[in-house]
Amino acid sequence: MAGKRLILMGPPGGGKGTQAKRLQDRYGIVQLSTGDMLRAAVKAGTPLGKQAKAVMDAGKLVSDDIMVGLIAERITQADCAQGFILDGFPRTVPQAEALDKLLKDKGISLDAVIEVEVPDARLIERITGRFTCSKCGEGYHDKFKQPRKAGVCDVCGSTEFTRRADDNAETVGARLKAYHDQTAPLMPHYRAQGLLKVIDGDRDMDVVTKDLESVLGT
Ligand code: AP5
Repeated sequence: MAGKRLILMGPPGGGKGTQAKRLQDRYGIVQLSTGDMLRAAVKAGTPLGKQAKAVMDAGKLVSDDIMVGLIAERITQADCAQGFILDGFPRTVPQAEALDKLLKDKGISLDAVIEVEVPDARLIERITGRFTCSKCGEGYHDKFKQPRKAGVCDVCGSTEFTRRADDNAETVGARLKAYHDQTAPLMPHYRAQGLLKVIDGDRDMDVVTKDLESVLGT
């Protein structure tokens, strides 16, 4: 399925990042996570990172202009030519409209927009238990996905892990509100384009992956 281009939508902690990494490996397409891009800017202390940090820590959304500029620049890089998974973008109607225009101008069409649905009640547990390898970025969970050997990354063997500054119960409430108020209205936008598929994300990770693969094909 070389050449597939898709958007993975879903609430904070819904499993977008987990599944995007699996699809990236399975299909040889690139994961474009706007959250990861912003966290890299925060870590590097760039002007964008300084501006974005307070907004992210409050669980609010970074401005549409900044986000559209980031994606417009990233999506035209060579590694996206074989396909991409947008993870965390678009998140507002203006972002979706800007993306429509950007793709149209470049003659690129989307193959699918997949919403991974998970009830709010599950998300706090998922988010507050999440941690990541500091070296290779592999994602784990205190309950749902522990390293095979405690304290050692399965992928690279590192013993250092990090937790995100916005992964606490208070900020999750604001992130969920932003999702319901600003991102959920995108579903009709993509349903009207005949692109939207909805998947039940409240199941075992491997089952969710199988569902995604059946939507995307071989
Ligand atoms: P972003 O990084 O995009 O965060 P998010 O949307 O809140 O999503 P998460 O990364 O928290 O969750 P996920 O769905 O990837 O879940 P994961 O796979 O890790 O954005 C962060 C911030 O950046 C935003 O709040 C905003 O400020 C800013 N931002 C980013 N993009 C923006 C944009 N376009 N516009 C404006 N602002 C923007 O899974 C979570 C945990 O659950 C993991 O531990 C995992 O192991 C576990 N898990 C996954 N699947 C399952 C399963 N099926 N069963 C059990 N556990 C599971």
